[in-house]
Amino acid sequence: MSSAVPSSVEAWVDALEAVGYFADRRLATAVHLAVKLERPLLLEGAPGVGKTELAKAIARVLSRDMVRLQCYDGLDQRDALYEWNYAAQMLHARLMQSSATADEIEASLYSDKYLIARPLLQALQAPAPGAVLLIDELDRADEPFEAFLLEYLGELQVSIPAFGTIRAERAPITILTSNRTRDLNDAVKRRCLFHWLDFPSRNRELAIVRARLPEVGVQLAKQVTTFVQRMRASAAEVGLGRAPGIAETLEWARALTALNVGDLGASAVTDTVGVLLKDANDWQRIEPHVATWLVAEDSP
Ligand SMILES: Nc1ncnc2c1ncn2[C@@H]1O[C@H](COP(=O)(O)OP(=O)(O)O)[C@@H](O)[C@H]1O
Ligand SMILES: [Mg+2]
Repeated sequence: MSSAVPSSVEAWVDALEAVGYFADRRLATAVHLAVKLERPLLLEGAPGVGKTELAKAIARVLSRDMVRLQCYDGLDQRDALYEWNYAAQMLHARLMQSSATADEIEASLYSDKYLIARPLLQALQAPAPGAVLLIDELDRADEPFEAFLLEYLGELQVSIPAFGTIRAERAPITILTSNRTRDLNDAVKRRCLFHWLDFPSRNRELAIVRARLPEVGVQLAKQVTTFVQRMRASAAEVGLGRAPGIAETLEWARALTALNVGDLGASAVTDTVGVLLKDANDWQRIEPHVATWLVAEDSP
C-alpha cells in the first residue's frame, strides 16, 4: 500500500502536518528535492530539533517502511551492510563434502541464502514502493565508516566481494542526520543535499505542543513554549550545558498538566525543572532568570 508522493513544496508542508510534523517551507523544499531528485538528504542541527522525527514522518506520508541505521563509534560494514552466516556456510560445506568438488562448494557458499542483510542492504532490497533509510547520528561513527558510505550515497549501490554489486531497484529515500559533534567528511556532504535544522519559531513550537498534546491547556502551552524559547535564546549567555529540545518542551508540558498546573509560576518551574534540564548545575545557572522568562509575552 503506497501513498501518492506530494508533488510540490506546499503539498509536502500539508502532508507532513497531516502526520503530525510541522515543517517550514525551507525544510519542505529540501524534502521535496531529495525525493524528486533521488538524492540523500543530510540534516544537521542540535539534539532535539526534529531530525529523526522527520525521517519517520516522511515514511508515514509515503506509507513506506523506515529502515534505521543508528550510528555509533566502531560501527562497521558488518553491522551496517551485510554479514555472511558463517555457521550455516560451514554446515553446508560439510554436507556437500562427499558429493562436490572444492570449487563447486566454494561457489555455492556465497549465495543469497547465506547473506544476512543489515539496514543498508535491507533498504536497497526493499519491495515496492521502496524504503526510507535513516542513517541516524552519523557524527557518532568514525571516518572509515563515512568513507564506506560513499558508494551507497553516490550511486545507491553497494559491492559485496564474492557476491557482486547490488543496485537499488527503487531508490531508497535516504536521510542522514548529524548532531554536529564533529564535522562530517566533505565527500559525504558533496553527495547529499544539505539542510541545517534550527529550533522552531515560538509559534511553530506552540503548534507542535497543541497538536501532540491536546490535553494541555492553551494558556499553559503558550507559557511553556515562551519560557523554553527564552531559555534557549539565553543558553549561551547563561552557560547552559545543553539547550532543551522539542522533546523536553513536550515532556515538560505533559508533566505540568499531570500536576494540574494551568498557569505557570516560579514555584511550578522549581518543582519540575528536572524534566527540562538534565544537568544538575544548569538549575543554578537559570534560577536568577526564571522570573523574567515567565513574564507574559504581551506584557509591556
Ligand atoms: N517539526 C516537528 N513537528 C512535530 N514534532 C516534532 C517536530 N520536531 C520535533 N518534534 C518532536 O520532538 C521530539 C524530538 O525530535 P527528534 O526528531 O528526536 O530530534 P533530533 O533527532 O533532532 O534529536 C520528537 O519525538 C517529536 O515528538
Ligand atoms: Mg535524533
